[in-house]
Amino acid sequence: MKILGIETSCDETAAAVVENGSKILSNVVVSQIDIFAEYGGVIPEVAARSHLEAMMPVVNKALKDASCSWDEIDAIAVTHAPGLLGSLLIGTLTARTMAVLHEKPLYATHHLKSHVYANWLQRPKDIESELALRGASPSLTNSDSTSFVPQFPLLAMVISGGHTQILYMRGHDQFEIIGTTHDDAVGECFDKVAKILGLPYPGGPSIAKEALRGDENRYKLPHPHVEGLDFSFSGLKTAVLRAVQKELGLPISHPSHDLKNHLTDGMRADFAASFQKTAIDILNEKIKMALQEHPEIKSIVFAGGVSANQKLREEAKKVFDKEYTVYFPEPKFSGDNGAMVAAAAFYEIQAGVKPTDPYKLNIYPRISVES
Ligand code: KG4
Ligand code: ZN
Repeated sequence: MKILGIETSCDETAAAVVENGSKILSNVVVSQIDIFAEYGGVIPEVAARSHLEAMMPVVNKALKDASCSWDEIDAIAVTHAPGLLGSLLIGTLTARTMAVLHEKPLYATHHLKSHVYANWLQRPKDIESELALRGASPSLTNSDSTSFVPQFPLLAMVISGGHTQILYMRGHDQFEIIGTTHDDAVGECFDKVAKILGLPYPGGPSIAKEALRGDENRYKLPHPHVEGLDFSFSGLKTAVLRAVQKELGLPISHPSHDLKNHLTDGMRADFAASFQKTAIDILNEKIKMALQEHPEIKSIVFAGGVSANQKLREEAKKVFDKEYTVYFPEPKFSGDNGAMVAAAAFYEIQAGVKPTDPYKLNIYPRISVES
């Protein structure tokens, strides 16, 4: 089954063709990072207009790269929630129009589910063999190729620019939120801390790069006290702000946007490394707690933009890999893409989800993964 997946929930215009939820026949992503680097963040109106320009060329290229005609596409899948209203509108209107025009069944997917399903996409041979060595189980749905996929029940740590949630998955398309952030998402925290340190947008990759030459033990940053499996990241951002002001001998009234002008290169790298270590430790601590509460868990799955972080990958493997198989998407599928949307739709179809009416499909900028 070949599914065309379309994703436009934030600032990436993306489309891909995926066979049987796993085999990537094409993957096209047009990022608006260059536009928003200048502003230091996404401007929703500009994002929507850019999607409009890029959308059809991206869809056409995805079909061409996959050497697929419309006749060979079995279904169309599109992100309809959550995300920026104008951005979601462009993707869904495109998918609805294509579904009517080419008479294809249309499936609407939730962005966080799609991020999780990036872990079912087939990985390059070397990663698949590493997973095999670690005792991962091969997929039963892909008879034409061996692909190593997570086993249920599993914990999915969804860490993106808009969300930080621990999801419990009993089976395909069964998501229960067992931990969530009370305020900022961890990716948002990377982005805000990068701004304080004077590092370019998006902050996650900039901090990861800067941290490579920093001392992660130089600045001690507090872990927030949040009950149970929930998170809070706004306090960590403020803790970095206060630590920078203190280090520079400046009062707490000193404007945060000016601090970057006073930091030495050494301080900047050490703050980046210390912040990154703290954020990763907080995530892993909560996963440990979740595993204690749910001893039946078989796999741990990371998903969303922040799961591209190399240090997080190393730490999580160090901490959890002896007892569990830990899964990360291939880094280019950690961020927003159309392949994960197609994979999510494939497994939803397997779980019995029916196509949606292309004349009625709605968008939901803020809806939960449980609804
Ligand atoms: O999943 P995503 O592409 O979009 C949303 O659904 O939000 O996630 C974007 C977030 C941004 O906050 C970005 O700074 C963060 O993922 N990110 C990273 C890394 N790459 C992207 N954070 C930490 N380390 C990275 N290497
Ligand atoms: Zn995302």
